[in-house]
Amino acid sequence: MSTTVPGLHPLIDYHPETTSIRDEVLDGLQQTPKQLPSKLFYDARGSRLFDRICELPEYYPTRTEMGIMQRHVDAMAARIGARAMLVEFGSGSSRKTRILLDRLDDLVGYVPIDISKEHLLQSAEDLAEAYPALTIVPVCADYTTTFELPDLGAERTTVYFPGSTIGNFEPDAARDFLRRIAAIEGAGGGLLIGVDLQKDVATLEAAYNDAQGVTAAFNKNVLARINRELDGTFDLDRFRHRAFYDADEGRIEMHLVSLADQRVVVDGVDIQFDAGETICTEYSYKYSLDGFAELAGAAGFAVAEVWTDADDLFSVQYLVAQ
Ligand code: AVJ
Repeated sequence: MSTTVPGLHPLIDYHPETTSIRDEVLDGLQQTPKQLPSKLFYDARGSRLFDRICELPEYYPTRTEMGIMQRHVDAMAARIGARAMLVEFGSGSSRKTRILLDRLDDLVGYVPIDISKEHLLQSAEDLAEAYPALTIVPVCADYTTTFELPDLGAERTTVYFPGSTIGNFEPDAARDFLRRIAAIEGAGGGLLIGVDLQKDVATLEAAYNDAQGVTAAFNKNVLARINRELDGTFDLDRFRHRAFYDADEGRIEMHLVSLADQRVVVDGVDIQFDAGETICTEYSYKYSLDGFAELAGAAGFAVAEVWTDADDLFSVQYLVAQ
């Protein structure tokens, strides 16, 4: 068994190279219909915009999930058990995690994983100050790729995947991703996951079309990022944000709509847009409790416990690999 010193450990870096981002961007823009991977949102500026989204009056998921966490943290801690390593996928500002860290006083370590390096380091430093006795090992990675987890000698591993980010994956990909998590977690471990629930269309669509336009800025930042990092020529005034709920698919779709026939160059490659043509930048699937239990089952998990808010807007669930 390895021994570790408490405190902030050096960041383990698996951040994707600009060349692999280039290939993914050009590949997506050359498909019909055009699409871009939603992980591209989270550069330094996008991560800050996302934190602002979480505070918006229309964006119910964050505050609802925080409320569920606060109300049920004792039951969650009981599920997680003693001397665990807590691994968080897409840790961002680790705000929800603090609710767990305040309660779990015998954690062997906390491993935040995020694709946004500056944001990850800043949050890890803030956490190290607030929790001086905690071992923190930040990992910068695209968590859909392979990376190694540190061996902290824990008795069990719990993966924490809040925020309903599982909703970004299409159902088959969600199942495959959950299978990978099941393989990480091993005996005695579990997955504590936030899952947004199906609800009336007006509430859903408002959450992705806020009055202040923060979600629109977050969406358009993808184009600004391509301009910055890949020598792109996107004119941000010639695209508009569009988000809507597709009830048949059970998902929010976010798009960037071209306002004109136009040609854009990305790293020397020409991309042609018709007026009205869109780039799909994100899916955000919303689940029923039964629908998510079915998905979890297909990935080899059983749902051990589900916590929801009084209005059934959102759920936090503890899953155990079978
Ligand atoms: C971080 C994927 C959970 O789907 O609600 C927020 C991202 N996009 N507003 C979501 C997002 C637009 C968010 N997730």
